[in-house]
Formats: sequence, structure tokens, C-alpha cells
Amino acid sequence: MKRLVILISGRGSNMTAILDAVGGGKIAGEVTGVISNRPDAAGVAIASDRGVATVSIDHRAYPDRETFEHALTAAIDVHAPDLIVLAGFMRILSAAFVDRYAGRMINIHPSLLPSYPGLDTHSRALADGVRIHGCTVHFVTDDVDHGPIIAQAAVPVRNDDDATALAARVLEAEHQLLVAAVGWFCAGRLVIDGARVRVKNESGDVVPLIVPAPDLS
Ligand code: GAR
Repeated sequence: MKRLVILISGRGSNMTAILDAVGGGKIAGEVTGVISNRPDAAGVAIASDRGVATVSIDHRAYPDRETFEHALTAAIDVHAPDLIVLAGFMRILSAAFVDRYAGRMINIHPSLLPSYPGLDTHSRALADGVRIHGCTVHFVTDDVDHGPIIAQAAVPVRNDDDATALAARVLEAEHQLLVAAVGWFCAGRLVIDGARVRVKNESGDVVPLIVPAPDLS
């Protein structure tokens, strides 16, 4: 059983998807802790209701990134995790922090990277008129919203979409994609090969593009 720690900043729907998958036996791991940088994040209450140890480390209470990350590192390392999942964790992390967890920290991002790193991905995609949008799970490097891509899911952009509708469609795909990627990690199926990630199965590599995600109406 791999030990997972999930970092969140908000509502925690991706975290909840992982907890559901772990509970349903779809992921060979256990979530030993959930850490939030926002004490009022809705995801903290959800995790704690499910009996998961939670801790809030409010970044505003620290004078700088270094001291915040020092506290964060201590809170993470107490779990001796095999994998750290950034599931809507909205803080930029220093190179030193990222290096400490190299190869064992992944992030979900609501765009098809390298398009639309950063914030407001859905409205930017709409403003550009793209027809395909989606989400990415990748290993974290010190290059924000970059790093070896594990898997991507694509969704269509519909003519009547606004950012809210598009975000909801992407979010559904995110839940599926993140559960798949965490499952592969826990099953020892991911190999980082330079800038690329291979997803292995018994007969070789698989191509982990999930498109279209089901139920996208
Ligand atoms: C998700 O859409 C996730 O991809 C995004 O924050 C949202 C969190 O939702 N993350 C980023 O933008 C990171 N760059 P959730 O709290 O319901 O999982």
C-alpha cells in the first residue's frame, strides 16, 4: 500500500475523487493526510468527516515562502508519503521544495499543458476560440505547471459554453484522470524517461490519453 498525502486549497473535489477511489479499492494506496494552506477550505471538512488526518498551514501566518514551506515539509514528512498529490493546491513552490519530492509529487492542472499554464484557463481557452480543452496530470518540477506529463484528458468546447460550463466539463474529466494517474503510480506503472513518462502494463506501454471522457453532455 502506497502512502498518499494530498495538498489542497479549496473545495477538494479532486481530493474527494481520490478518497472515493481508495475506498472503492481502485487505488492501491491509503490517504494518510490532507494538508491545506487555507484553514477554511471546504475540502478540509470533507476529509476530516471521512476520518482522514487533516492539518491547515495558513501561508498568511508565515513571513515568507521559506518558512511556510519549512512548516509544510514537516507536515508532509510526518506521513513518510510515497506520493504527494497537489489537488487544487494554489501556492507556487520553491525549487528546493520541489526538488525534495522529485519524482513523487504530481499536480492536476485544468488545461491541456503546455497550453494555458497559470490561472483562468477556461476563460482564456474560450477567448482563443479553441475547440478542444482539457486537463493534465504531471510530475511537478520547479517550472510552474510544467513537468513530465503523465496523462491528459480532452473535452470539446461547445458553442454555447461559458467559463463555468466549460470548467464543469473539464472537472469531470479531472476526477477520472487524477484517479487513473494516482492508481498507476501506486501500482508502480509510471516510469519517468527524461521529459516523458511511460505508463507500463504487462505487455509494454499504454497511451494514457483519455478522450473523450464519458458523460460530457
Ligand atoms: C481544479 O480544477 C484543479 O485542476 C485546479 O484547481 C481546481 C481545484 O478544484 N488546479 C489548478 O489550477 C492548479 N494550477 P478542487 O478543489 O475541486 O479539486
